[in-house]
Amino acid sequence: MSAGRGSWARSAVVYQIYPRSFQDSNGDGIGDLEGIRRRLDYVRWLGVDAIWLSPIYPSPLADGGYDISDHAAVDPLLGTLATFDALLGDAHARGLKVLLDLVPSHTSIEHRWFRDHPDWYTWADDGPPNNWLSAFGGPAWTRDEQSGRWYLHSFYPEQPDLDWRIPEVRRAVGDVVRFWLERGVDGFRVDAVDRIGKDPELRDDLPRTGPWLLPLPPEYATLEHVHSRNAEDIGRLLDPLREAANGAPLVGEVFRPTAELGPFLEHFDLVFAFEFMFASWHAEDIAGVVEPAARLPQVAWVLSNHDFSRLASRLGEENLPLAAALLLTLPGAAFVYQGDELGLRDGPGTYPPFDRAGRDGARHPMQWDGSETGGFTTGDPWLPPVDAEHRNVADASDDPRSLLSLYRRLLALRPRLGEGFEIVVADEPVLGYRRGEHVVTLNFGDEEVEAAARGSIVLTTAGDEQDGRVPARGAVVARTVA
Ligand code: GLC
Ligand code: CA
Repeated sequence: MSAGRGSWARSAVVYQIYPRSFQDSNGDGIGDLEGIRRRLDYVRWLGVDAIWLSPIYPSPLADGGYDISDHAAVDPLLGTLATFDALLGDAHARGLKVLLDLVPSHTSIEHRWFRDHPDWYTWADDGPPNNWLSAFGGPAWTRDEQSGRWYLHSFYPEQPDLDWRIPEVRRAVGDVVRFWLERGVDGFRVDAVDRIGKDPELRDDLPRTGPWLLPLPPEYATLEHVHSRNAEDIGRLLDPLREAANGAPLVGEVFRPTAELGPFLEHFDLVFAFEFMFASWHAEDIAGVVEPAARLPQVAWVLSNHDFSRLASRLGEENLPLAAALLLTLPGAAFVYQGDELGLRDGPGTYPPFDRAGRDGARHPMQWDGSETGGFTTGDPWLPPVDAEHRNVADASDDPRSLLSLYRRLLALRPRLGEGFEIVVADEPVLGYRRGEHVVTLNFGDEEVEAAARGSIVLTTAGDEQDGRVPARGAVVARTVA
């Protein structure tokens, strides 16, 4: 288990940047590393501890960059290694850590490994050898035209799965980790990591029996993915990754309910609490999901990312202050997806879509000002801003009652909340919990309620710090010891 170097992550707030949609610097309509560099003062001002960059590597973009064709370079559309070094240096100078996205379970089909080392991937000679499904629809096996054989892919056919039982694969991914750590990167968010452990006998997945606590595409949800992912020896497979990381934090993206995260905990500094992201929006349900997850020292709370409908679209705008207060007052680490601090809603995407799995809606650009392109680009944006005239950083930062100002107040308060976590009330519509000397009361209802504890009010989502009542769909934090 990593202590030392990785431990800062355990209480960090990490801001997720989707590089193509953050800030364009050269007018080609695509966000880039130089753009991110120019916006670091904003990120610092917001008050987060770190940024996580979704993949920045060369990619044919079948899966928005999660199909990597070269792990040790920067996509020319986004910049160069030199721009990356400058970004990293400037982030560090502002006290911001930088996490990269590591995608260990597959590569792009255009990665040279696929042709130079076909044995690093999983093959079948005579058609699909089992019933495994791709997360994005259809079988997980596709015929390779060149060899006539079939290869395994947990995601798009353009993303063949690496075979983690092959020592050279583990070594090669370890080398990628070392390459970026030597450049000064602080850690990694590790993509789809439960996929690296598969049944060596390639046995069929079983028909689904129980309910799923997380949303899955309908076809994919017909099976229990017991053999296509999450193999029993996952720990052994992860050892080389942990070793290569050498204490730098690893954040596991394991799309599983909290109760099934066990095998990953030892190897990861943080794991996302995805059950939290999809919990039904009621005080008691949230309490039921938060309680077990809060017991994990590795918990990383997350309510939104580039894969799912945005928070404002999923929960409704009226719930955003409450969501912000919940996310940022729980113990452990928290992840904020770019634009959620403005209340950005899903956009319409484009036709034909960039993402065949329908995720463009959550990837529209950041809205920096009220101009037509929202200050994102001087050119033609790859996806248009959604409503920059109504929602943008320039206006929201001037308004003390804006959601953005609330995020800043919560981020400033967070380090002072204190240790520990204890639920003191979970009774519809109120959820209250103690953090050290503070008690947080969240109101999921439409009427004002009493705070769960008396004390001096240090924050209310209403922006008015005097009153001890908890606004509808809002929160207060009280300090209970003078
Ligand atoms: C992760 C990423 C997602 C990607 C998939 C395959 O779930 O967040 O965007 O499509 O892995 O790499
Ligand atoms: Ca650009």
